[in-house]
Amino acid sequence: MSTQLTPILTDFWDDPQSWTLATYEKHEGYQGLKKALGMKPEDLVQMTKDSGLRGRGGAGFPTGMKWGFLPPPDGGPRYLVVNADESEPGTCKDIPLMMAAPQFLIEGVAITSFAIGCNHAFIYLRGEVVHVYRRLLRAVEEAYAAGYLGKNILGSGFDLDVTVHAGAGAYICGEETALLDSLEGRRGQPRLKPPFPAVAGLYARPTVVNNVESIASVPPILLHGADWFTEMGTEKSQGFGIFSLSGHVKNPGQYEAPLGITLRELLDMAGGMRDPNKKLKFWTPGGSSTPLFTDEHLDIPLDFESVAAAGSMLGTRALQIFDETTCVVRAVDRWTDFYKHESCGKCTPCREGTWWLKQILGRLEHGQGDEEDLEKLLDVCDNILGRSFCALGDGATSPITSSIQYFRDEYLKHLELGHCPFDVRESTLFH
Ligand code: NAI
Ligand code: SF4
Repeated sequence: MSTQLTPILTDFWDDPQSWTLATYEKHEGYQGLKKALGMKPEDLVQMTKDSGLRGRGGAGFPTGMKWGFLPPPDGGPRYLVVNADESEPGTCKDIPLMMAAPQFLIEGVAITSFAIGCNHAFIYLRGEVVHVYRRLLRAVEEAYAAGYLGKNILGSGFDLDVTVHAGAGAYICGEETALLDSLEGRRGQPRLKPPFPAVAGLYARPTVVNNVESIASVPPILLHGADWFTEMGTEKSQGFGIFSLSGHVKNPGQYEAPLGITLRELLDMAGGMRDPNKKLKFWTPGGSSTPLFTDEHLDIPLDFESVAAAGSMLGTRALQIFDETTCVVRAVDRWTDFYKHESCGKCTPCREGTWWLKQILGRLEHGQGDEEDLEKLLDVCDNILGRSFCALGDGATSPITSSIQYFRDEYLKHLELGHCPFDVRESTLFH
């Protein structure tokens, strides 16, 4: 595995005014678009397929293949929608990317739109991050003024308008079809798939929905070539990604590295545990919707296949690190509260199930209930997993089942003592 070529997307975040077009142009900005406009759209799709780029929003679906699913042009509109509704607990990569270097995304939008024959692209941003909204609007304005967006881009005859849309702050609107409903002005709830958005998406027209980081990775791939990208990462998880480290780590933040790096290596980059005398207890490889890992998993390569083989998911590469002062039951209870609150209510297993999970977990965290409650928890999880309408329900069960798998004794200790065995004042998280 090569670690030589990163950082790329995070390369100049420390530059003064890193977010301006002028800074971006100093770092090869828009060279990719200039190259793309001289190529055939189908060659751009092929190049993205050859690069092996997989969706950076969590699911890891091959990006070029997704573009290739669009039906042949029929004279009607087709859309690109960027999913910038980053809301997974612990996930913090798209928002810093859009704040520090938004032009990567705008250039990626222009190249992708040209590749798929789209003349109107949307960026759907979560509503709470007003500072990011302003920054994106400014970045889009600068790109229009420089002729990278708008009519007849760089004299190529290609027209593209970009709309930045702020949502209203619902986690479910990160699910691509709920996002499309919300963008159309309806209540955001997932649609039945198929049809996939590629066939019937925004306004029932062919639509590509891609995550911010996926689209931002397109300009460097185009400029340096598919082989350059495949040199990084592993055989099936190619390229680089932004890993966000948070929690009990000395220097939390975004660390860009080839896929396949391990948590041990990332922790070295981040200065180690916040208190070096405290042991790592558990962590999430890809946000709170992915099964927990423990210190046994420090050397698992963080690529799609290896993480799955070890029983979890790479997800959004949101590494939340917890040391031995943290009560796992309390952490899981907090996440479950989030899922209960964010459940959109469309399907019964998730709507009712997350409520019950929260009741039982809250009881256990306070040392109330009995051992049977653990079986009840697992039973409710079993009735949500695979029976919910979208991935939110499944995700809600992951921290619970994995925490019982690794820390059953800690649950039992709560029951034995009749209260939480941890002193919340000792832990710097979950007060
Ligand atoms: P999915 O696996 O159902 O789909 C992935 C993508 O591939 C979608 O865009 C889908 O339209 C497309 N696709 C799949 N099969 C297709 C086919 N046969 N034809 C055309 N297109 C096809 O995953 P989903 O439900 O979109 O996303 C779940 C992931 O989202 C989870 O893995 C989780 O890690 C991640 N997630 C990310 C969050 C964030 O804040 N970034 C929040 C919550 C979850
Ligand atoms: Fe809504 Fe949850 Fe069902 Fe998804 S799983 S459709 S969020 S109720």
